[in-house]
Amino acid sequence: MNLVFLGPPGSGKGTQAARLAEAKGLVHLSTGDLLRDAVKQGTELGKEAEGYMKAGELVPDDLIVGLIEDKITSGVLKNGFILDGFPRTIPQAESLMAMLTKNGIEIDKAVLIAVDDDEIVKRLSGRWFCPACQATYNHPAKMPRKDGVCDHDGTELKRRPDDEEAVVRNRLEVYKKQTKQIEEFYRQELLLAEVSGQQSPDEVFESILEVVG
Ligand code: AP5
Repeated sequence: MNLVFLGPPGSGKGTQAARLAEAKGLVHLSTGDLLRDAVKQGTELGKEAEGYMKAGELVPDDLIVGLIEDKITSGVLKNGFILDGFPRTIPQAESLMAMLTKNGIEIDKAVLIAVDDDEIVKRLSGRWFCPACQATYNHPAKMPRKDGVCDHDGTELKRRPDDEEAVVRNRLEVYKKQTKQIEEFYRQELLLAEVSGQQSPDEVFESILEVVG
C-alpha cells in the first residue's frame, strides 16, 4: 500500500501516518521530520532549510525532491509507504509521479485530512513534543501524566518554533496559496479520498481505514 497524506498544518497527518504505518507495516516518511533532523544535525540541507521553516515558508522544491529521490532509489519504500508532508507543490507532485513511474511504483490513495483554521491554531498552540522519542502531546486533548515531561522517557517536553501563532497563520496562508492545488491534482488522478480531521484521533483513524481499505 502506497499512500500520500495531505492536509493543512496541524490536521493530524503525522499522528495518523505514524499509527497507520505501525498497523500496516508501512514506512512513514515525513519530510518535516527529515528536515528537522537535518537542522538538528547541522547538515548543509539543515542550514539551508532552517530559515524557511522558522518563517513557516516552504523549503525550495529541488532540496526536497532530492531528499525523496534518495529514499525511492535506496529501496527503503519497496514494501509500502506513507508520504507525510510531501508533495506540497505541483512541481513536487509531478516530480514524485515521474520518480515513482521510473521505479515501477504507483500511489494507491491520497488521503486528505480536512480541518478548519481555528481548530488548527488551537491545536498547534497546545502542541508539545518529546525531543528524545518524538512522542507528541496536546494541551488539553492529550496531556502527559506529569506536567512538562514525556510519559515514555521522562525527557523535558519542547515546542516547535514554527508553532508560534503568527508562524502558524503564515503556514496556513502558504498551504492555501501553494499546497491546496495538490488536492485537485490527485482528484483528477482519481486518487483523492477526504476524511474529516475534526473528530477524535480514534475516529479519524477509523475513517482513514475505511477509505484505504
Ligand atoms: P511539517 O512537519 O510537515 O509540518 P506541517 O505539514 O505543517 O504539519 P504538522 O507536523 O504541523 O502537523 P500534522 O498535520 O502532522 O499534525 P499532527 O499529527 O502533528 O513541515 C514543517 C516545515 O517543513 C514546513 O513548514 C516547511 O517549511 C518544511 N517542509 C516540510 N515538507 C516540505 C515540502 N514537501 N516542501 C517544502 N517544505 C517542506 O497534529 C498536530 C497537533 O494536533 C498535535 O499536537 C496532535 O497531538 C494534535 N492532534 C492530532 N489529531 C488530533 C485530533 N483528531 N484531535 C485533537 N488533536 C489532534
